[in-house]
Amino acid sequence: MTDPGSADARAGVSSFACRWEGTALRNVSGRNETKARRGKPEGDDELELAGYFPVEGRRVRLRPVKQEDLESFVRWDNDDEIVKWSGKKFEGLGDARDWYFNGKGSRVTMAIETLSGELIGEVELLNISWRLHTGEVRIVIGEKNLWDLGLGQEALTLFIDGIFRALPLKKVFLRVNKDNKRAIKCYTKCGFKRRGIVKLSPRYGVPSLLLMDIAAEDVARRVSQGPLG
Ligand SMILES: CC(C)(COP(=O)(O)OP(=O)(O)OC[C@H]1O[C@@H](n2cnc3c(N)ncnc32)[C@H](O)[C@@H]1OP(=O)(O)O)[C@@H](O)C(=O)NCCC(=O)NCCS
Repeated sequence: MTDPGSADARAGVSSFACRWEGTALRNVSGRNETKARRGKPEGDDELELAGYFPVEGRRVRLRPVKQEDLESFVRWDNDDEIVKWSGKKFEGLGDARDWYFNGKGSRVTMAIETLSGELIGEVELLNISWRLHTGEVRIVIGEKNLWDLGLGQEALTLFIDGIFRALPLKKVFLRVNKDNKRAIKCYTKCGFKRRGIVKLSPRYGVPSLLLMDIAAEDVARRVSQGPLG
């Protein structure tokens, strides 16, 4: 895996930044990292993750979202099987553009591509609480012919590692349909732990959700054991 703090990792990522509801932290890397880890980001406009993303694993790369990705994102969002597990995200292309490029929410989204540059999915951190030091992760591998090849595990592991290095979070959680066995296996193999079931009244027509989370210290321990296999 590329060292996110290396000159190579920084090259080619000059302008990527995420918007954060009126708070900001610039250059969350290198000597600023200790300060960043202490608490809520400071400032007034942008958070820069350029020292941490793009990042490459053995088979996938995580990089900032580009305008030309939107068509695939919307195509995946119109796929019944994906919507069954992930829920519907957009009304259309304009809605997707607003989400990725004009959004005001606290979130970080990375496109997932193969090392040859084929866009295959997206992974996102949202619902960040600087008070609780938590955030929620969502992932989609949109190209269904690539399911069950371990690419979700690789992308999620890279993402979580980068997020914990870059941001002062203690835990990342996720919610998953309790019947989504593929996703649950993927998350478990990434180190997420089961924390309980959220049961909703049947009248809402929403399935029960399994809540899972992963702690920064567990990720740090795993990372210290070596690069992804
Ligand atoms: C969930 C998702 C991100 C996982 O990515 P992926 O690349 O397909 O998953 P991985 O191959 O890394 O891991 C899936 C694991 O589940 C296993 N699996 C697949 N179907 C299974 C089933 N019915 N029961 C048990 N395990 C199953 C796979 O064999 C694999 O395990 P392995 O590595 O031991 O072989 C991807 O499939 C996806 O985007 N699905 C649609 C949307 C979705 O469900 N998003 C999650 C919303 S919370």
